[in-house]
Amino acid sequence: MTDLIVRKLTFAFEQHDVPFLWNPENPAFSAMANAVSFLAIGFEKMIVKMIMQAKPLITDPEVAEEADAFMRQEGQHSTAHRQHVRGLIRNYPGLQETLDEVVGEFDKLTAETPLKYRLAYTADLEATFTSVFKLMLDNEAVLFRPGDDRVASLFIWHFVEEVEHRSSALIIFDSIVGSDLYRMRVAPSIFRHVLRMIRIANIGFNKHVPLEERKIDALSMSATYRAQHRLGKLLPRFALPDQGPMPRAFDDLPLGEQLLALRGVIRSQLPKHKPAHEKTPALADVWFQRYQDGYDVTRWYTAEATGAEAN
Ligand SMILES: [Fe+2]
Ligand SMILES: [Fe+2]
Repeated sequence: MTDLIVRKLTFAFEQHDVPFLWNPENPAFSAMANAVSFLAIGFEKMIVKMIMQAKPLITDPEVAEEADAFMRQEGQHSTAHRQHVRGLIRNYPGLQETLDEVVGEFDKLTAETPLKYRLAYTADLEATFTSVFKLMLDNEAVLFRPGDDRVASLFIWHFVEEVEHRSSALIIFDSIVGSDLYRMRVAPSIFRHVLRMIRIANIGFNKHVPLEERKIDALSMSATYRAQHRLGKLLPRFALPDQGPMPRAFDDLPLGEQLLALRGVIRSQLPKHKPAHEKTPALADVWFQRYQDGYDVTRWYTAEATGAEAN
């Protein structure tokens, strides 16, 4: 029996303005998280269609149940990110174009690649999440706490549920495809696709959100882009236009923790990887307990301050 709980949460994005710079203390992280919202909509839409296709091929009832709960959690994430992005589009209508482009690319993947490739895509990418989100959640005090509580709460919820269902995509992949070799063989093309999607989102941010509001060059997290900039400084004919300062979202995080996350990401792609054995962020357990106790998790920080509880 699956342990996953499908939680339906609504965040107050309709009630007041949704800032692009939702954590003014870290503009690079603000942009990065916004990009996650754009990608999540396309990726999770792809997952829902993929599971619908995969279901008839799943013979083990336990795996079928896991797949169903996994799909429904992802569906909830997608819905909430749509509300967040709709709020951003209200302020910057050009971002609709960016959303259409990202979702269009994932739709293309659904239409043009075999089911086993999308199962591997989901298993490979989701396997990296526990390490990456642990780094973020372990540093919530600087990454989320100073920000807009609705946006911070959306990401904290999404990331703890990614930790909760960290084994699901691999269980489903193994039950239908079951080849570590295939998963590893297609990994480079999968991660190239993910990076291309992030790039589309960040190009859109640079294009449609004025620099005075985004504060940074949204492409600054890309190692390739940074290298191109360095080259441009040495050889002016390769110079790229200046699109703002280029800090990185994790510049202030402990280096040891960043390296640990990187090691985890690499380990997640190796054969026989068991996501269930990964170290999980302490905040995830706190979050699940508070949710169970009826705490208003859609206002993670302000509910705590006011002592207000849900329901
Ligand atoms: Fe998700
Ligand atoms: Fe997920």
